[in-house]
Amino acid sequence: MRCGCPAAASGARDVHPRPTAHSSTTAISKPAAAPRLDLYAPIHKALRLFMGDTLARVGRIDLSDSADSSATLQQLDALLELCRGHVAHENQHLHPALEARRPGASQRIGAEHDEHLDAIAALGADVAALRALPSAAAAHRLYRHLAVFIGENLVHMNVEETAHNATLWELCSDAELQDIHQRIMASVGPDELALVLRWMVPALSPAERADSFGVTTGTVSMVLATAISSSAVKVSLVITPCPAGCWRR
Ligand SMILES: [Fe+2]
Repeated sequence: MRCGCPAAASGARDVHPRPTAHSSTTAISKPAAAPRLDLYAPIHKALRLFMGDTLARVGRIDLSDSADSSATLQQLDALLELCRGHVAHENQHLHPALEARRPGASQRIGAEHDEHLDAIAALGADVAALRALPSAAAAHRLYRHLAVFIGENLVHMNVEETAHNATLWELCSDAELQDIHQRIMASVGPDELALVLRWMVPALSPAERADSFGVTTGTVSMVLATAISSSAVKVSLVITPCPAGCWRR
């Protein structure tokens, strides 16, 4: 599992070829460039799925059904906590790596992280207000504010996956990226890991799941094994079979 927060398994790669000196017209006889490690893509896929599902649930919340209301707001609580943790992981592990190699490289995104933390706190206040005095108006206010927060995050994550990755791939070796990844993983607790897997597994393509979790080789990564053995995990892993060889890139 890889990411810019709770992240992914050992050594698997996404398809982001290293730049070469020749264009594609002259590279026919050259072996394909090894893909680079993408620390952002898997966790961002998980967050996008979690955000979209939660927004839809908040939009259709049934205030006359206490069980539905409670479950919906609990899911939103979990999303906001995961987003708070995601910001912390990126601030602690990725931004220092960027700044050490290119001062100012994380400035824009770092400022947006501060805004996201403010937005998360404001959303928490909206949730508390809805719980204290349920009303259609309060529910719709929460829905609109959550939609704006998600919209800003979608743009934000795209910058990270393009500009930040470009800088990381230009200035960091794969060994350095793996070291960052390992330090992120070491900072993720079992409850957070379980929640990430709950949304990451169904967010990835079959080939990405096989690549990240070693499914096709019959092995299960240490990360996944740890999560499965954790009492905190209540995850239904529905894994679409991967055709033979589909994970090879
Ligand atoms: Fe971020």
